[in-house]
Amino acid sequence: MASLIEIRNMCKIYNPGENEVRALDHVSLSIGENEFVAIIGHSGSGKSTLMNMLGCLDVPTSGIYLLHGSDVSLLSDDELSDIRNQEIGFIFQGFNLISNLTAFENVELPLIYRGVSKKERTNLAKEALRKVGLENRMTHKPSEMSGGQQQRVAIARAIAQAPPVILADEPTGNLDSHSSKEIMNILRQLHSEGRTVIVITHDNDIAANAKRIVHIEDGRITSDSANEGNLSRDDIDKEIRSGPVIYDSDIKEEIPNEEPAEAVIEEPTATRDDYDIKITDENIDLHLIGDKQNEQEE
Ligand SMILES: Nc1ncnc2c1ncn2[C@@H]1O[C@H](COP(=O)(O)OP(=O)(O)OP(=O)(O)O)[C@@H](O)[C@H]1O
Ligand SMILES: [Mg+2]
Repeated sequence: MASLIEIRNMCKIYNPGENEVRALDHVSLSIGENEFVAIIGHSGSGKSTLMNMLGCLDVPTSGIYLLHGSDVSLLSDDELSDIRNQEIGFIFQGFNLISNLTAFENVELPLIYRGVSKKERTNLAKEALRKVGLENRMTHKPSEMSGGQQQRVAIARAIAQAPPVILADEPTGNLDSHSSKEIMNILRQLHSEGRTVIVITHDNDIAANAKRIVHIEDGRITSDSANEGNLSRDDIDKEIRSGPVIYDSDIKEEIPNEEPAEAVIEEPTATRDDYDIKITDENIDLHLIGDKQNEQEE
């Protein structure tokens, strides 16, 4: 299998000096095209830090990251921005939708900044929303949708231009078990279409969908094994050597397979001004500015 992502001996140290945090400690990881990988580990183990590296949202303190064989550390900011735009679709726990835009406009916005023509972006946005089952919600604003629907809008935004890699950080972290299953079905579908899907999660049910499970603990990879479909939740629990963790999904009752009667209405807090929108000739580099991102992830 061709190596799409190759990380060698990567370290990330926050606040170097006396109070330094070694969030990634000599991590090596290779991910091929069309893999479906779950990265699991307890809170603070370094999952999001690793995702930020994989997504070129941050740079490592040391180590090598080869994406399609090119050394990412040698790329300029503009080139990194190009890679993010063309290669990677991001999905975050906090959805990161813009509250005063409709579902359609949220999906369309990055396409506008990428210079896609009106006709093409309308087609792409509609097709992406149709794919996540939201063709009837195009004109709804985030506050008018359930958490699961908002996350599906965020997925539509991530996949509208068919990036080869989908990076999802706790995509179901704010969702009930019914919505979580819908999101996982969509991610499975994207994988079956040939995308590389990397999901970061606390949730073993979510991890059980992946074909490969990488466990990270204190910034180090402690196991990396194929999931042939015969790993049970208990098996994955045993993989987590730091002891059992209680997940929301353990205590939530199964919700019948229908639109949730009392949908969880998540009031998105991000507005246009919270986004760091970096525009180059062809690209938009759209992500939440530091504090807002942290706030949304809490
Ligand atoms: N910007 C930062 N400055 C300083 N320390 C940080 C920063 N970001 C993360 N850390 C620390 O790095 C370590 C790894 O954090 P990270 O966010 O990667 O964990 P995580 O596995 O994603 O946790 P969670 O499951 O809670 O999201 C933690 O100890 C965290 O406190
Ligand atoms: Mg995290």
